[in-house]
Amino acid sequence: MATETTTFEIRKTQHSRIAEVDFSNLVFGRSFSDHMLVSIYKDGQWGQNQIIPYGNLSLSPATAALHYGQTIFEGMKAYKSPDGEVLLFRPFDNWKRFNLSAQRMCMPAVPEEIFVGGLQELLRLDSDWVPEGAGQSLYIRPYMFAADEYIGVKASDTYYFVIFTCPVGNYYSKPVKVKVEKEYIRAAEGGVGAAKCGGNYGGSLYPARLAQQQGYDQLIWTDAKEHLYVEESGTMNVMFVIDGRLITPAVSSSILDGVTRKSIIAVGEYWNIPVEQRRVSVDEVIEAAKEGRLDAAFGAGTAAVVSPFSHIAYEDVDYALPELTENSFPVRVKDFLEKLRTGRSEDIFGWNLKV
Ligand code: COI
Repeated sequence: MATETTTFEIRKTQHSRIAEVDFSNLVFGRSFSDHMLVSIYKDGQWGQNQIIPYGNLSLSPATAALHYGQTIFEGMKAYKSPDGEVLLFRPFDNWKRFNLSAQRMCMPAVPEEIFVGGLQELLRLDSDWVPEGAGQSLYIRPYMFAADEYIGVKASDTYYFVIFTCPVGNYYSKPVKVKVEKEYIRAAEGGVGAAKCGGNYGGSLYPARLAQQQGYDQLIWTDAKEHLYVEESGTMNVMFVIDGRLITPAVSSSILDGVTRKSIIAVGEYWNIPVEQRRVSVDEVIEAAKEGRLDAAFGAGTAAVVSPFSHIAYEDVDYALPELTENSFPVRVKDFLEKLRTGRSEDIFGWNLKV
């Protein structure tokens, strides 16, 4: 694949910050690697492609994205194999989804040679930042925002595309206690729920805070029309194992087409587990929990990987899920993905891109 034809001006840092990072105690999203990629879209084309030391961007207070939220992002990960190779997990899937988000938000597409090719350049420079510990990875944050200095509501003519990276450990350190949300919604049909745009996350904060005040870690979002069907959980796709079947809401205009979600589906099918992608009613899940047929429930996402739920709360009743064992589906699939992504097992699906 032609991923590296664009030339990046590279300016290396004179002072690496890597020695300041405690790699044995990585907090998610707080340490940033030495370099970042910046490309600017202007006059109908991408240019000024640079890889420069990580640092502040200088922006006008009138920058359009800060007012109307014309901004999108991705979450991706790179891993280190036992022989020191850097492996990017399914980068083309993130690149494609990024451009679908861009289309929905009226933004220009980012070419593959900038998104994937530029990212590879960046990772070559910062390969020492890819951690090697169990459960650790380099989280990659590509994003784009409207950069016009203008406060009328219109699609911007200028954009910044930026990638920075952070060495991370687990997003959730223990099984997650979730509550089925029946008042607030994450996204509605025909809205922007399938796009990875900033507003989806900003709007989720208040209902999540209310749930946290009631002792839950996260929400299970339900559909906007009736609150009868499960959509996502927090910032993750959601999956259930009921009667030995892997069941997950089908993607729609209000549900993100998660890369981890589709990887888990592929692994489930490879293991000959019946997989169902369809509407999933809250009633079905709660009935299964009551009858002891809900073997497991978990969130799936790049940051959270596979995050099992310990409890699901619905209408003021907490339903405890079975204790996890090494045979539980979420435990097995997480382990399978971790080995594949770190090059410790064969990449049977061809998902890894060597940097
Ligand atoms: C991811 O899983 O990568 C996400 O984008 C969620 C994030 C908001 C931490």
